[in-house]
Amino acid sequence: MSADIDRTNPPTSDTVTKAVIPVAGLGTRFLPATKATPKEMLPIVDKPAIQYVVEEAVQSGLHDVLMITGRNKRSIEDHFDRAHELEEALAAKGEEDRLRSVRASNDLAQVHYVRQGEPRGLGHAVLCAEAHVGESPFAVLLGDDLIESADLLCRMIEVRQRHGGSVVALMEVEPEQVSLYGCAAVEPTEEEDVVTVTDLVEKPSPEEAPSRWAIIGRYVCDPAVFPILRHTPPGRGGEIQLTDALLELARAKPEEGGGVHGVLLRGRRYDTGNKADYIRTVVDFAFRRPELAEELLPWLREFVDRQDAVDHG
Ligand code: UTP
Repeated sequence: MSADIDRTNPPTSDTVTKAVIPVAGLGTRFLPATKATPKEMLPIVDKPAIQYVVEEAVQSGLHDVLMITGRNKRSIEDHFDRAHELEEALAAKGEEDRLRSVRASNDLAQVHYVRQGEPRGLGHAVLCAEAHVGESPFAVLLGDDLIESADLLCRMIEVRQRHGGSVVALMEVEPEQVSLYGCAAVEPTEEEDVVTVTDLVEKPSPEEAPSRWAIIGRYVCDPAVFPILRHTPPGRGGEIQLTDALLELARAKPEEGGGVHGVLLRGRRYDTGNKADYIRTVVDFAFRRPELAEELLPWLREFVDRQDAVDHG
């Protein structure tokens, strides 16, 4: 028996305690970098993107993390494991800060792995979590999607506790961008940042889109999603889409685990699987470090001036 269990407020089967992070995708938008390296391991300054995602799960109270992995993803497992040789070398040199940074990722959470076998889509990746998750609601965090703060996921978990069902995160995008996302038709609730989802369409054309509210990479799913995913046929792009299963849940009765709410994103979000957004993320995160900002700002100003001179000269 673990001494860490809080007996004053024991988790029930309705408490969200587990995070599922699918990282089995092929990352084709980032080739050739992702030929042998997972896109989730691309560095954002000096930490791989996936570490920020695990940190966010932990900050949201989810210490049990299940990664859905695939071929070529061994480096992710290594990153969240001990690196004895490296740790000994750093300890011998007295490099305490570096040693701490190396150990941080393996002390973060209890990380488990299951392999997807074949990347048959996000819905199929989530279905691979069924045996680990069981009958409780769970969070899904996409491994290449960074959200500025854990407030969003905390709020989504709170909405699930209050309303039941599932919860998606929604970001308002420009009309020409809706075709890159799953898109939601929504109705307001009494809470300004929470909506009821009435319809979902995966990657619609601007004409088909029910709104400009795009689904981004955070979900809280009712376990009723599993039986639905088992019979969800491949949808857009020949992949089993989580969005299609969530639409079925949006139409299902509450006693069947149905109902989908949306929480509106307030802060920033970065899609690190997309080249331009990846570069933006690196720059943004670098400028949050005073020592790097000081070194980079004069260079960046000069670079912009030089570009302006080229563009106008
Ligand atoms: P993406 O569609 O962004 O990932 O899926 P992808 O397929 O790797 O990207 P591109 O389009 O080829 O560049 C969102 C998340 O779901 C995971 C991905 O690893 C990513 O974190 N995923 C996707 C899976 O785990 N399995 C899949 O079958 C598909």
